[in-house]
Amino acid sequence: MTRLAQISDLHFGAESPGLPEALLDTLNTLKPDAVIASGDFTQYGRRREFDAARDFFSAIEAPVIAAPGNHDTPYLNLAARVAAPWARFEKRLGKGVTPSWRSPTAAVESYLTARGLQAQLDWSLGRANPRQAAQIAQSFNDFRGLKVVAAHHPLMAPGGLKGRAKTRGGREAADIFVQAGMDLVVTGHLHQVFALPQRRPDGGSCWFVGAGTALSHRTRGEPPSFNLFDNTLEGLSLTVYAAEDGENRFTPGKVQPLHR
Ligand SMILES: [Fe+2]
Repeated sequence: MTRLAQISDLHFGAESPGLPEALLDTLNTLKPDAVIASGDFTQYGRRREFDAARDFFSAIEAPVIAAPGNHDTPYLNLAARVAAPWARFEKRLGKGVTPSWRSPTAAVESYLTARGLQAQLDWSLGRANPRQAAQIAQSFNDFRGLKVVAAHHPLMAPGGLKGRAKTRGGREAADIFVQAGMDLVVTGHLHQVFALPQRRPDGGSCWFVGAGTALSHRTRGEPPSFNLFDNTLEGLSLTVYAAEDGENRFTPGKVQPLHR
């Protein structure tokens, strides 16, 4: 049995009061083997926001795998974004988190899709490098447990890769992960929960799963939530824990089987 939690788009600096404590309590009660944090830990990449995220991650009892998002580079400091977009993330947060994690039954690799600076007008959009995707896929060679990739930007999305989901190279990267036999590709950024299967060459499915924002009641549409994955002899399942109507309490929705 493997249990993984996915928390996303925490946006420390814009969090709803009381929700971080509720999330921490729920996570430590559920006792996942590892927690995947799929980016946008901070609102503007400020030092104090990183420090709040660091304190939060250090209070999680499970190891935390982190894939930074477009908000995790100094948002308001162009010079820093150009020179060293991830220096602040690495200095303030890097020691408490890991880019990859492995147990006998599951392996998680993070895949960077955010950029400090890029040659397109909207810098919040993701950019997926297919060569890096191939390297990550290759690192799972011979691993027989659950294979998980974590990125901030979607590689698949309901309605396709357009609007905020327009991740350059996303389709190619998704294909590489499907062909390589990944089980799960988890992403954030859209603040929208979804689960989309893709058929693999071996007849199984690779699931592309998006998470909601975990700590803010102020987003339109969906309540704050996080994803819980259980992989047992019966198979893989997803349970979404949400905090409804301004409540500082996460309650589970129904268990959704993700048939492999
Ligand atoms: Fe984002």
